[in-house]
Amino acid sequence: MQNKVLIRPETEKLFTRALNGEATREIPFWLMRQAGRYLPEYRAVREKAGSFLDLCFNPELAAEVTLQPVARFGMDAAILFSDILVVPYALGQKLSFEAGEGPRLAPQTRLDEVDFESFCAKLAPVFETVKRVRNELAGDKALIGFAGAPWTVACYMIEGRGGNFETARQFALENPAALDALVAKLTEATACYLIKQIAAGADAVQLFDSWAGLVPAAHFARRCIAPVRAIVQKIHAVYPGFPVIGFPRGAGLFYRDYIDDTGVACVGVDQHAPLEKVAACAAGRAAVQGNLDPLALLAGGKTLEAETKRIFDAAGNAPFVFNLGHGVIKETPPAHVAALARLIREFRR
Ligand code: CP3
Repeated sequence: MQNKVLIRPETEKLFTRALNGEATREIPFWLMRQAGRYLPEYRAVREKAGSFLDLCFNPELAAEVTLQPVARFGMDAAILFSDILVVPYALGQKLSFEAGEGPRLAPQTRLDEVDFESFCAKLAPVFETVKRVRNELAGDKALIGFAGAPWTVACYMIEGRGGNFETARQFALENPAALDALVAKLTEATACYLIKQIAAGADAVQLFDSWAGLVPAAHFARRCIAPVRAIVQKIHAVYPGFPVIGFPRGAGLFYRDYIDDTGVACVGVDQHAPLEKVAACAAGRAAVQGNLDPLALLAGGKTLEAETKRIFDAAGNAPFVFNLGHGVIKETPPAHVAALARLIREFRR
C-alpha cells in the first residue's frame, strides 16, 4: 500500500485516515461484535425481531442495532449488522440459528452456477440497511461492510455447524479440486456482495477469515490468500484503492505472506499473534488492527488498562486501528467497554 498524500486530512474520517496508511495521533477504534447480546438495548430489539435471521433481513431494526454501540460508546466506525452466513443462505442453502446453539445449515459441498440476480435480490435488505445506516451516521464516523472469507464460509457450508470443522477439513484434504470449485463460486458471489455494500454506502469492508488457523500450512496460500486477493482485485476493478480489511484469525507465521500477497489495506490481528511483529511486517504496506484479548475486556479494571497500554506500545508508530483480537464476549459488562473507550480517547502518540 502506498502512503497516500491526504488532500484534506482534516475532513477525512479518523478511521479512513488510518486505513490509508496514516499514523494518526489519536487512535480510531471499533470492536468486532460491538453490536450484540452484551448490550441490553440489542437484546430488546432482538426479541422484537423474532429470529436472528429476521433481524438480519429487517433494515429498520438492523440499522437500529448497528447504530446502538456507536451511540453509547462513540466508536469511530459502525459495522453493518448482519452475518457471514447470509451468503450461503442467499445462494440457496438452508440456514437457521438455534437459541444457544449457533448456526445450523443443511451440509453441502458444491454450488450450482450462481444466479446473481436472485442472489442479490435476496440480499437487497442488507443493502437497504447499509443505506439507512450511512444516512443516519455522523459524517466523522465510518461504516464497515463485511463478508466471510471463502474458506471460513466453505467450512460452515460443508460442516453444517460450528465446532472443529473436522468433516470440512477432511473434505478439503481429500477433494482439493471440489473445494477449489466451491471457493471459486463463493469468491465471485462475495465480491459481488461487497461491491453492492460499497455502492450502498460502506466506507470500508472487512473479510472475516475466522478459521484461517485451521488450514494446513501447505494449503494456506491456496485457501486463505488467493481467494482474498481475488476479491480485493474485483473490488478494486470497480472502486480503485478502496480499503479492504482482512482478518485471517490464527494465521500465525502466515501473517507476513497474507499482508504481502492479498493487497488488503489493513490486517486484523488476533490475540495469539505478536502485534509488534505483525506491525513490522506490515510497515509501509498495510495498516494494522486489533490484538486486544476479548478476555481482557471481560476482566476490565487494571487488567484491561495494562493490556490496552501494552497494545499502544506494541503498535508503536504503525497506522493502527484499536480493536479486539476476536469478538466481544456476551458476558462482557457494557461498563468495561465504556472504560476502554475512555482509555483509548485519553491516549495520544
Ligand atoms: O457487531 C458486529 O460485529 C456485526 C455483526 C456480526 C455478527 N456476526 C452478528 C451475530 C458479524 C460481523 C458477524 C460475523 C460472523 N458470524 C463471524 C465472523 C466473526 C467471528 O465471530 O469469528 C462468524 C464465524 C459468524 C457465524 C455465526 N453467527 C456464529 C458462529 C454465531 C453463533 C455464535 C454466537 O455468538 O451466538 C452467529 C450468531 C450471531 N451473529 C449473533 C450475532 C449478534 C448472536 C445471535 C443472537 O443474537 O441470537
